[in-house]
Amino acid sequence: MPTSENTVIDLFQGWPAPSLLPTSLLQAASQTLLSNPSLSTPSLLYGPDPGPPSLLETLSVFLSKFYSTPWTSPSRLTITGGASQSLACILQVYTDPSFTKNVYMVAPTYFLACRIFEDNGFAGRLRAVPEDQEGIDIERLEELLARDDLENGWRDQRPTKQPLPCQKHFQNIIYCVPTFSNPSGKTMSLRRREQLVRLARKHNALVVTDDVYDLLHWNPTRLGEAAVPRLVDVDHTLDGGVVSPFGNVVSNGSFSKILGPGLRTGWTESTELFALGLSKCGSTRSGGSASQFTASTIAESLRSSAFQQYLDCVLVPAYRHRAAIALEAVQRYLLPHGAILISLDGNSNPKLPKNTSLAVDGGYYIYIHLPEQLDATRFAEVAERQENVIVGSGENFEVVGDEASVRIKHGVRLCFAWEDEDRIVEGIRRLGKVLEQAMANIKT
Ligand SMILES: Cc1ncc(COP(=O)(O)O)c(C=O)c1O
Repeated sequence: MPTSENTVIDLFQGWPAPSLLPTSLLQAASQTLLSNPSLSTPSLLYGPDPGPPSLLETLSVFLSKFYSTPWTSPSRLTITGGASQSLACILQVYTDPSFTKNVYMVAPTYFLACRIFEDNGFAGRLRAVPEDQEGIDIERLEELLARDDLENGWRDQRPTKQPLPCQKHFQNIIYCVPTFSNPSGKTMSLRRREQLVRLARKHNALVVTDDVYDLLHWNPTRLGEAAVPRLVDVDHTLDGGVVSPFGNVVSNGSFSKILGPGLRTGWTESTELFALGLSKCGSTRSGGSASQFTASTIAESLRSSAFQQYLDCVLVPAYRHRAAIALEAVQRYLLPHGAILISLDGNSNPKLPKNTSLAVDGGYYIYIHLPEQLDATRFAEVAERQENVIVGSGENFEVVGDEASVRIKHGVRLCFAWEDEDRIVEGIRRLGKVLEQAMANIKT
């Protein structure tokens, strides 16, 4: 059906495409599960704390191949209710607001994480750290950590939690989305990852990485492989390996962006001791790991290779194509009016080397900066009112409580996953109209 002028086009929604949802994969997997009592009975009862062994084992094989990490094993994994629920459990177990000082978040940030930190006692203690072309601005982070280390107030307070022997409290939390970031689409360089791990070790910090877009990677030279080693793997190998049995990084994975967020299932990878401590989170002990039935169903899809096939033959080709046409539309309709591509290296950005080819290698998002004179929040309001296009913009991605440190005034996030292809192009075309008009208004 052609897209009429008044069709609402939502380029904000960071959800998977409804037309690509893997209903037949899940139907076949649940059929296998439910028709065999030796599989169905445990899947419908309480499960073990770390998660159903069927998923821990199949996932461990899958991750170890994708990330080229022979050390990935079931005992380094826990099954979770998705990255958000998992973040809450990580904070419950591994922080104490009377000991843990601050949470350092890359800005622009995945805004819904802020509330999870606030719910766990960190309101007013979220610190924004800017991003450069290689990822988190490490010098700024170092400066902030050093400054905050001088304040010793927290250490005098009585602990409010009693960690078990297989748990500990970290002094700082660093949160980032290192690969195909939400919202900026950037991937942190390996060099920066190494610097970050060293810094975390120095400051007794836990780096929580939401690695939820990693599997959606389509750089043709590394198809079926990770773009860059995860921070948890850098921690495993760098300078002789982890400096404490808990390590300093936990990888937070999710099936939400791949199979569907309604499944509410994900995983963590960390050191074995960290995984054990996490699996002893009170709400997990009382009931077993989250999403036992769904997790067991996903295990069947991994066992039968249906998952791998869906990823390789459906999802990655479809998103690669959407990303390419979205990028083409951005080049055609937005860059000529002064917008700058932030997610990628490219000729459009005067600060980057010339002749770098433009490509989006994975994830869900393209992130642009509007020309300096324009405010992104205002631009988004006009786009919605006049052109029925919804985008994520500006202050949506600021770190709550520390907005003034890193203002996100010009950023606009475009998601190429949710809407179908013709609507993506049409939405960006309409945004081009709004941008052209806004620039003309400035000139007159
Ligand atoms: C960076 C990031 N983390 C976490 C989530 C939510 O993941 P889940 O559905 O697994 O809770 C999202 C969803 O947009 C995300 O972009």
